[in-house]
Amino acid sequence: MRTKLIAGNWKMNGTLADNELLCKSIRTGLAGVDASQGTSVVLCAPSVYLSQLQSCLAGSSTIHLGSQDVSSHDKGAFTGEISTAMLKEFGVRYAIVGHSERRQYHGETDAVVALKAKAALAAGITPIVCVGESLAEREAGLTNDVVRRQLAAVIHENGHCISEIVVAYEPVWAIGTGKTATPEMAQAVHSVLRAQLHAASSVAAERVQILYGGSMNAANAASLLAMADIDGGLIGGAALRAADFLSIIASAK
Ligand code: PGA
Repeated sequence: MRTKLIAGNWKMNGTLADNELLCKSIRTGLAGVDASQGTSVVLCAPSVYLSQLQSCLAGSSTIHLGSQDVSSHDKGAFTGEISTAMLKEFGVRYAIVGHSERRQYHGETDAVVALKAKAALAAGITPIVCVGESLAEREAGLTNDVVRRQLAAVIHENGHCISEIVVAYEPVWAIGTGKTATPEMAQAVHSVLRAQLHAASSVAAERVQILYGGSMNAANAASLLAMADIDGGLIGGAALRAADFLSIIASAK
């Protein structure tokens, strides 16, 4: 039985003061929730705030720290990039890789995303590998082909440790738009991804958490999270409001 994972993707939002309040509210809201009961929570903050969040989350067994990206390189002349070793110094346990905003605005290809996942895995950081189709691709009936291609690159590069990843299905047309895939639409894609994992490794198919992302909120989370292959959420906008984020976590049973 897979446990649920609820990850907040703060994107390029926050200030020292706002983060302090948000992080403390989430910690307080989850105080007394027994980590062994299941749901894990991840906060993916902008890199400059990882140190702040590391302090805020110190001692928590339920809430883990995540980054929004990671370099595929170890070190050296890669201006602006952040290595796995650097992230580890700040207690980072998860790294989002291949978010559609990185693919779209920073030209990240499937091959680059696969190498980022590889670097994370080698460092013991769990990559949250994002896949998802654009509206044009969905309308052209290409959804399954696109997500399969994106996941295939990661499986190809990381086949031996594919059971250690997390996958996030995020239809691009649903991100930040208020348009959510229906639970049935999301489940259909999640089952395609599950079958692909199964073909690679039955252990992976059993174990890998497949998150849904794209306008998940306090009102729609329960119905999405009730689907057989939806093992959690990657939440943007609603993760910036403690009450909404806590409500989503509460609906992950
Ligand atoms: P959203 O973002 O919840 O604001 O749609 C999700 C994401 O991009 O990870």
